[in-house]
Amino acid sequence: MTGRVAGPGPEPPLALLAELTHRCPLQCPYCSNPLALERAASELDTATWCRVFDEAAALGVLQVHFSGGEPAARKDLEALVAHAAGQGLYTNLITSAVLLDAKRIEALAKAGLNHVQISLQDHEPRGADRIGGYAGGHAKKLDVARLVRAAGLPLTLNAVMHRQNLDHLEAMIELAVGLGAGRLEVAHVQYYGWGLRNRAALIPTRAQLERATEIVTAARARLKGTLVIDYVVPDYYARRPKSCMGGWARRFVNISPAGKVLPCHAAETITTLSYESVTDRPLAAIWRDSPAFQRFRGTAWMPEPCRSCDRREIDWGGCRCQALAIAGQADAVDPACEMSPLHEHLTAIAAGESGAPAPEFTYRRIGAL
Ligand code: SF4
Ligand code: FES
Repeated sequence: MTGRVAGPGPEPPLALLAELTHRCPLQCPYCSNPLALERAASELDTATWCRVFDEAAALGVLQVHFSGGEPAARKDLEALVAHAAGQGLYTNLITSAVLLDAKRIEALAKAGLNHVQISLQDHEPRGADRIGGYAGGHAKKLDVARLVRAAGLPLTLNAVMHRQNLDHLEAMIELAVGLGAGRLEVAHVQYYGWGLRNRAALIPTRAQLERATEIVTAARARLKGTLVIDYVVPDYYARRPKSCMGGWARRFVNISPAGKVLPCHAAETITTLSYESVTDRPLAAIWRDSPAFQRFRGTAWMPEPCRSCDRREIDWGGCRCQALAIAGQADAVDPACEMSPLHEHLTAIAAGESGAPAPEFTYRRIGAL
């Protein structure tokens, strides 16, 4: 059973993102995994993950998102889902789907899986398989999406959008409706990790973005009651930053395949912080008082103008990893904010790169760099 109790220290996290593995048959050039991918030999074993889910439930976590890499690359996925579900945790599988089949979907449903999220690279096989770097992937995803619905599980599709597929957005929305998804996440690529590396090949023009926003607005009205559409816009064209992760160490906790406890998926780019492992200390202790979690929690760390801004408890100062990537300092004002001295620089990057021919992708794989 979960128990969210008020007490000294920070509120417990709402959700745990369990990155079970970095192994994945796909090679998406915008993957949120770090550039330095972990190998299978360093992955936590089944018993350790189960202990982590026990600790998460005791801490007050409500949801576990099974992610990767491709979480189905782990043969013990079904056992891990069953264990987390047995602890009363809501379980969500975030998957490329290409390693799943009818037997595994049935086993996952029996294990107590509550929800499935499948990523889509494009609306048709040629473009999708090129972007994902995996032949036959798109057709397989559609088959698995139908199996998920046939098993009675709710389905969300994640459409990661960028300059090379944004003009197909209407077709992707129709695909989601046809597959019986209840929700579609239209998420523009965020530029850290592999996405940052491939930014020039991915960043859309402002005109492309504006057209996409119109399409989403119209589709939301048209499909009310059929399909919920979430929409994540790219920071580079924003005037205010997003509330990244709902605030550093406020709502979410990530655990890497080797057990490192992180406030977000890109946190390891901030090399001035050191992250503790579930193999060394209990999750609750790390969440409560690890220096890396405390570093940007709340508002006391903020520079001006964030410190006296009336949005400081709305966006929590934006994204620390983006501040590092663009300003070179994790404690700088997020350049997505108009108040940052680097905001114009960010806009100029977007205009310059999106207006030039797209370079080849650097696909995400061990040894690609
Ligand atoms: Fe957010 Fe800081 Fe910009 Fe205010 S100044 S909107 S808190 S990033
Ligand atoms: Fe790390 Fe935004 S991705 S704080």
